[in-house]
Amino acid sequence: MTLLSVDSLSAYHGNVRALWDVSLKVEEGETVALLGANGAGKSTLLRSIMGLVRPSSGSVKLRGEEISSRRPHEIVSRGVSFVPEGRRLFPAMTADENLAVAVPRGCRDAEQRMAEVYSIFPSLTEKRSLQAGTLSGGEQQMIAIGRAMMTKPALLVVDEPSLGLSPAATGRTLKALRGLADEGTSVLLAEQNLDLALSASDRAYVFENGHIAMSGASATLVNDPHVRGAYLGGEV
Ligand SMILES: Nc1ncnc2c1ncn2[C@@H]1O[C@H](COP(=O)(O)OP(=O)(O)OP(=O)(O)O)[C@@H](O)[C@H]1O
Ligand SMILES: [Mg+2]
Repeated sequence: MTLLSVDSLSAYHGNVRALWDVSLKVEEGETVALLGANGAGKSTLLRSIMGLVRPSSGSVKLRGEEISSRRPHEIVSRGVSFVPEGRRLFPAMTADENLAVAVPRGCRDAEQRMAEVYSIFPSLTEKRSLQAGTLSGGEQQMIAIGRAMMTKPALLVVDEPSLGLSPAATGRTLKALRGLADEGTSVLLAEQNLDLALSASDRAYVFENGHIAMSGASATLVNDPHVRGAYLGGEV
């Protein structure tokens, strides 16, 4: 069954229209990338899926259930988790404490869930008692992704995982995201780094000015000169 289905979604910021009849799907077990230049509408779409931006029309369905009028916490409790742009960690709290804040109410296996996060990111284990604000950008991104995984989501939505990271750290982060899909968590990620995003995803959608300009298998899009052109179009 299709996990996430967005149909003809439109959204405004004040009078500015940011999304124009956007439709896309994420199937169970897929990693899907949203590509596009600055201001193309990627974050607006992700925030609309999470209930943080109210769409003006269109629908967002999770396993067939309409969620576009749901509040953010209701969407999280239905199995969708969000890593916002810029990570938004608590810098004075330790890595462990940042993970602990995401433990759902009534959860009986918090320790087990934390252990699972550290098994995804083994290099974080030795830093678990350090203040998150003292860690590197890559380590902070791992905590942000780990925090989102504490709710055991069916779909992880990640906005710009590469922001502020070196190419090597970006590569490691995207590889870890790909690994989540292999274990049953589908991933929808917005990303500026075209080549890394295409190498780490099954399918991709290319955004241009709030429209989906192109979509297809990532392995096909990587060789399509139009993708690069559309991508650079917004930046020149
Ligand atoms: N809070 C806001 N208020 C007004 N306009 C906004 C707001 N957020 C985004 N916009 C506008 O909506 C459009 C889409 O922005 P959005 O942040 O979704 O793009 P993006 O693809 O995520 O860009 P980036 O790659 O820079 O993160 C842009 O024209 C932007 O200026
Ligand atoms: Mg953005």
